[in-house]
Amino acid sequence: MSGGPGGPPPAGGVGDLPFPSGEVLLSSSRLTVRSGTREILSEVSLAFPRQKVSAIIGPSGCGKTTYVRCLNRMAELAGLTITGEVHYRGRNIYDPGVNPVQVRRRIGMVFQRPTVFPSSIYENVAFGLRLERQSRLEVDRGVVRSLKRAGLWEEVREDLDRPALALSGGQQQRLCIARALAVEPGVLLMDEPTSSLDPIATQKVEDMIYELKKEYTVVIVTHNMQQAARVADYTAFLYQGRLVEFEETRQLFESPQEKLTENYITGRFG
Ligand SMILES: Nc1ncnc2c1ncn2[C@@H]1O[C@H](COP(=O)(O)OP(=O)(O)OP(=O)(O)O)[C@@H](O)[C@H]1O
Ligand SMILES: [Mg+2]
Repeated sequence: MSGGPGGPPPAGGVGDLPFPSGEVLLSSSRLTVRSGTREILSEVSLAFPRQKVSAIIGPSGCGKTTYVRCLNRMAELAGLTITGEVHYRGRNIYDPGVNPVQVRRRIGMVFQRPTVFPSSIYENVAFGLRLERQSRLEVDRGVVRSLKRAGLWEEVREDLDRPALALSGGQQQRLCIARALAVEPGVLLMDEPTSSLDPIATQKVEDMIYELKKEYTVVIVTHNMQQAARVADYTAFLYQGRLVEFEETRQLFESPQEKLTENYITGRFG
């Protein structure tokens, strides 16, 4: 198992975890997930650098979705047992004193298929801001800011009161991204966000991810290795619930340290 290049401990204080360079905002430490007695993830330790895009790749069923769902405490909702730690801004989000609802609100998630609410475009983005009891003016500003960040503003600015379900699939996915960004989450988790989109809509989402990393730390699960190569600074390869390798993306694809990684990226399995 190779955990990325060596070097001094990161500023995030995650000790000897595998990590690339730079400050770490989010990390998992020996994260293990079980369904009954079956182990789905085994001691996965990863550290995600601030303002970078990190991709998670691996064959179907290797645990990618389960892993990202542990990063904002969603996995436990599906009846899974989680051990190990996830640190966000230096705090273990699995500490007994931490409210999982708050965690899910702060660490946003975008899913494979757009999950718009059956309300207006405006209301979809305003949702989280209203929960925070922001004033009408603040909500208005937050909606515009988030739609701009998600690259959707120019397409919907005249239609904010229209039903969100009337948007195209690609627009709906960018709306979900705007909704996740509205509460200023710091980290954005994306689970195969373009797998239901056509190439043009995919390109728009990828362009937006590139812009987002100026402000956000992004973790993206993708089946598509070309996508990882295009958008990610770092890439982790998971196989059968274990982390095989985490490297700078170019290094992982051009000179993987592990035979398993090489077999996967050259299409010899999965
Ligand atoms: N709630 C659950 N209860 C029991 N088993 C689960 C649960 N969620 C996931 N699993 C199992 O855990 C394994 C990993 O699933 P997961 O969805 O994380 O894989 P994945 O890498 O995201 O796959 P894909 O690329 O197909 O999306 C699978 O064998 C799956 O059946
Ligand atoms: Mg998945």
